[in-house]
Amino acid sequence: MAGFNVHSILVTGANRGIGFELVKQFLERSNPPEKIFATCRNPDGAQELKNLASRHPNLVIVQLEVTDPVSIKAAAARVEGLLKGSGLHLLINNAGIVKKTTLEAETPEYMSQVYATNTTGPLVISQAFLPLLKKAVQESAQKGLSCSKAAIINMSSEAGSIKNVLAWEFGQVVSYRCSKAPMTVDEGVRGIINTLSKLSEKETGAFINWEGNLLPW
Ligand SMILES: NC(=O)c1ccc[n+]([C@@H]2O[C@H](COP(=O)([O-])OP(=O)(O)OC[C@H]3O[C@@H](n4cnc5c(N)ncnc54)[C@H](OP(=O)(O)O)[C@@H]3O)[C@@H](O)[C@H]2O)c1
Repeated sequence: MAGFNVHSILVTGANRGIGFELVKQFLERSNPPEKIFATCRNPDGAQELKNLASRHPNLVIVQLEVTDPVSIKAAAARVEGLLKGSGLHLLINNAGIVKKTTLEAETPEYMSQVYATNTTGPLVISQAFLPLLKKAVQESAQKGLSCSKAAIINMSSEAGSIKNVLAWEFGQVVSYRCSKAPMTVDEGVRGIINTLSKLSEKETGAFINWEGNLLPW
């Protein structure tokens, strides 16, 4: 990962799970970002993030509800102010939800809620932060695209692959899944950061797993 040097990062849904671990591991790097914006919908309740922020002055906790355009706009304005004229280099749309339903039990309400969070939210957030990402591109002398220059990363899931049809029986065969899934969040996020460090314009729009392998849509 030599040369992987991200000046500023924003991670949504950073109070727990993969988002929190991404923030933690970026802070632990030998060349941590100058600014990490960890967003969550309830900063007051984000105790682990607050503990981390008390030890790392480059970590800023920002309120952001991904389904609320007003909250998104306010977060973009706050981040712009804190960047003091600099751009944002890496936006990671990580916040997401899953509803454990079957084809029979799916409802229009669940569909709307999941789309609002996992699909429309990242779009509106990307639009709101685009001017800051463009500013980062102008500041950079690097040729070609990379996460060090400016990038939007959307956290997807292999369950979204139409070809692989992974997890069609989501919620079932639990013991089998547990027995086959010894990976920790720590290991997974190490893989994600390693993959981020290798991305270039060739991967624009690509569907890539945590190990950097191309997945079929
Ligand atoms: N875990 C996996 O094995 C796996 C596999 C493939 C893909 N992914 C993807 O990776 C991402 C993170 O997964 P995870 O396992 O870390 O999930 P998680 O532990 O359930 O955490 C989800 C995060 O998203 C936030 N969030 C949910 N709805 C939100 C909203 N409306 N506004 C703002 N924040 C919201 C949550 O905040 P609250 O605490 O406020 O709810 C939480 O911080 C997701 O996009 C998921 O689809 C995960």
